[in-house]
Amino acid sequence: MTDYQTILRQLESLAASSRDPVALMANTAALLYHGMADVNWAGFYLVKDGVLLLGPFQGNVACVTIQKGKGVCGTAWAEDRLQLVPDVHAFPGHIACDSASRSEIVVPLHRGGEVCAVLDIDSPLFGRFTAADADGLAALAAKLEQFMG
Ligand code: SME
Repeated sequence: MTDYQTILRQLESLAASSRDPVALMANTAALLYHGMADVNWAGFYLVKDGVLLLGPFQGNVACVTIQKGKGVCGTAWAEDRLQLVPDVHAFPGHIACDSASRSEIVVPLHRGGEVCAVLDIDSPLFGRFTAADADGLAALAAKLEQFMG
């Protein structure tokens, strides 16, 4: 099970060096990619010019832009709601950046009351993410919002 308490503490200590959003998101992607079992992609898409644009991540090359409402990430943005998808093949409009991905979790991040980015994590296993992951990642997203606010 992922140790979200430790990841939160590591993020807090990194934020003491800089609260630059790119630096924080880059290190968060690294903490999650290396701190979670069975994950093949962890990173961010940022709301820019009306689309989601690829941000800091760890994993394979990924889609550069995603339209609002499209795929799991675009749905998280449009609905402003965490998406926990046990089987990406069963998700209408899922965008297969990495054909190895089987399950996915996406958490929206906010600035000024609006979604400004999404945190996206993919796994090669079906049903990899649980309610505990949703809680842990929501807490991490809240911390990031606080630092980047
Ligand atoms: N699968 C995502 C696209 C991003 S990649 O997984 C990195 C989606 O459907 O939004």
